[in-house]
Amino acid sequence: KTSIKGRDFLTLLDYTPEEVNQLLETAMQLKARAKEKSIQPLLSGKSLGMIFENSSTRTRVSFEVGMTQLGGHALFLSPKDLQIGRGEPIMDTAKVLSRYVDAIMIRTNSHEMVEELAAHADVPVINALTDAFHPCQALADLLTIKEHKPNQGKIKMAYVGDGNNVAHSLLAAGAKAGMDVAIATPEGYEVNQDIFNQAVEAAKETGAILSQTNDPAYAVNDADVIYTDVWASMGYEAEQAARMEVFTPFQVNEALAAYAKPDYLFLHCLPAHRGEEVTSEVIDGGNSVIYDQAENRLHAQKAILASLLS
Ligand code: CP
Ligand code: NVA
Repeated sequence: KTSIKGRDFLTLLDYTPEEVNQLLETAMQLKARAKEKSIQPLLSGKSLGMIFENSSTRTRVSFEVGMTQLGGHALFLSPKDLQIGRGEPIMDTAKVLSRYVDAIMIRTNSHEMVEELAAHADVPVINALTDAFHPCQALADLLTIKEHKPNQGKIKMAYVGDGNNVAHSLLAAGAKAGMDVAIATPEGYEVNQDIFNQAVEAAKETGAILSQTNDPAYAVNDADVIYTDVWASMGYEAEQAARMEVFTPFQVNEALAAYAKPDYLFLHCLPAHRGEEVTSEVIDGGNSVIYDQAENRLHAQKAILASLLS
C-alpha cells in the first residue's frame, strides 16, 4: 500500500489510479464497520477546520459527522466570521490554521484560491467544491457505482447537462477508475477544454474513453449510469432564466433514459430540481440511487480523512 498521509485532496487528477482504488477500498471497509457499529477512533484528538463560503447540506453534515465517527472534531468556519472575510491574506490564514487543526476543508468558488491555501498550509487541504472541481463527490459516486454494479466490466457513464465542476470531477474519476464518461452539454456550456485534455491524458493509463457531444441521446446510448446536475450552479443564479431555455432538451426524462441500458443507474449529486434537469419519474423511480449516493459522501470522506490524517 502506498501512503497518502499528509497529501492535499484537490482534484482527483492529482491521485494515481491505485491511490483512488485504495481510497475506495478504505471507504468500503469503514462503511462495513460503521454498519456493524464498531468504533473506529482513527482520528482521536484530531481536528478538521471547515471553511464554507457557499451553502451545503451533504458536504457539511457528512464531514462533520465523519470526523465525530472517527473520534475527531470538526469546526464550521464561515468566512463571514473569519478574518479572511475582512481581507486577511490567505497565506496568513493557511499558516495560522495549520498551527491549530490537522486538516483544512474548504468550499469556495475560486479554485485558484484553494490552490493558494494548499500551497501555504502545512496540513492537508481538502477541496469541498470549487468552480472547477468536486473531487469528494466524484469519489462517493465511484463508490456508489462499484456497490451497485459490482461484477460489471467496463462502465459507461453519461453525464447530461452543464459542463461544470461536477462534470469535470466525473471526467477525472472516469480517467482514474477506467470508466468511460460521455458528456452531453448544450453548445456554449461545454466542459473546460484544458481540464478535459488533462483527463484524457490521465485516461491513457486506465483505457477509459472520455468524450463530449451536444447530443444527449448519443451520450446516453447504451449507458450504465446517467448522471445530471443543476443547470445553474452556485454563483450562476442570475443566469437561471436564460439557462432554462437552452437546457430544456437536456432534461433527463424517461424518453432520454430509454437510450440507456434497462438496468441503468441514475445519479445526481443533489440538490436536485425536479421538472428541470430531471423529471420526478426518473429521480424518484426504480433506477435512481441518489440516497445511497448521498450516504456514500460520508463513507468516502471518512476514507479521505483517515488516509490523509492517520
Ligand atoms: N452534493 C453536494 O455537495 O451537496 P451539498 O451542496 O449539500 O454539500
Ligand atoms: N454544480 C453544483 C454542485 C452542487 C453540489 C454547484 O456548483 O452548485
